[in-house]
Amino acid sequence: MRKNIVAGNWKMNNDLSESKKLVKGIKKAIKKKELKNTRVIVSPTYVSLNAVVKKAKKSAIEVAAQNMHQADSGAYTGEISADMLKSVGVKIVILGHSERREYFGETDALLAEKVDQALKNKLEIIFCFGEKLEDRKNDNHFKVVESQIKNALFHLEAKPWKNIVLAYEPVWAIGTGETASPEQAQEMHAFIRNLVTNKYDAKVADNVSILYGGSVKPANAKEIFSKQDVDGGLIGGAALKTEDFVALIDAI
Ligand code: G3P
Repeated sequence: MRKNIVAGNWKMNNDLSESKKLVKGIKKAIKKKELKNTRVIVSPTYVSLNAVVKKAKKSAIEVAAQNMHQADSGAYTGEISADMLKSVGVKIVILGHSERREYFGETDALLAEKVDQALKNKLEIIFCFGEKLEDRKNDNHFKVVESQIKNALFHLEAKPWKNIVLAYEPVWAIGTGETASPEQAQEMHAFIRNLVTNKYDAKVADNVSILYGGSVKPANAKEIFSKQDVDGGLIGGAALKTEDFVALIDAI
């Protein structure tokens, strides 16, 4: 049975004290909640990972890194390895975010290497993908999403998929306030689930959580999350305020 997930991608926001304050606020707010089949994940920047993992102890909050390098170690100034993430208690990593692809030139081939490196280090992966506005305008969005998934993930056997969470984030909806409609989200999520079924089998496809990301807010979350193939959200802006983030957990 796949899990529902509300994951907050804090991006390049919150210094150390702001990160500790935010995770403390979320921890307090969800303390008495019956989360049942829902996972709560926060993803601070590297400098706050250690402190946030410590603050999140004895709570339902899990902590993800926003990226990692594909090598074990070496002369890669400014980079962070899987081992370093594990050394501060991080067990989940976000890979393939459109901002990494756009601003840092991350290709499907590089992401396939990062996927292998994360799995080799027993890290769970939240794998992001999504089309740009012109892709959708040209009716290429299914082709784009299919190639992003195939090129970075379909070299894997079925077994490692228990450590993969998929996050569909249409680039035109990220940070724009322009959310995909619940119907658009469901249509793409069903397409994605079908891709995985055809590549592997129904069991693998049914067990993978597929998150929607792109301007999810308390006002629109319930309807989007209610869709059959939407298993929660990868949240940017609304993850930076305790009350908004908790409202999204309540919306699942
Ligand atoms: O990774 C989640 C993020 O890209 C979505 O951002 O601000 O549109 O919720 P936002």
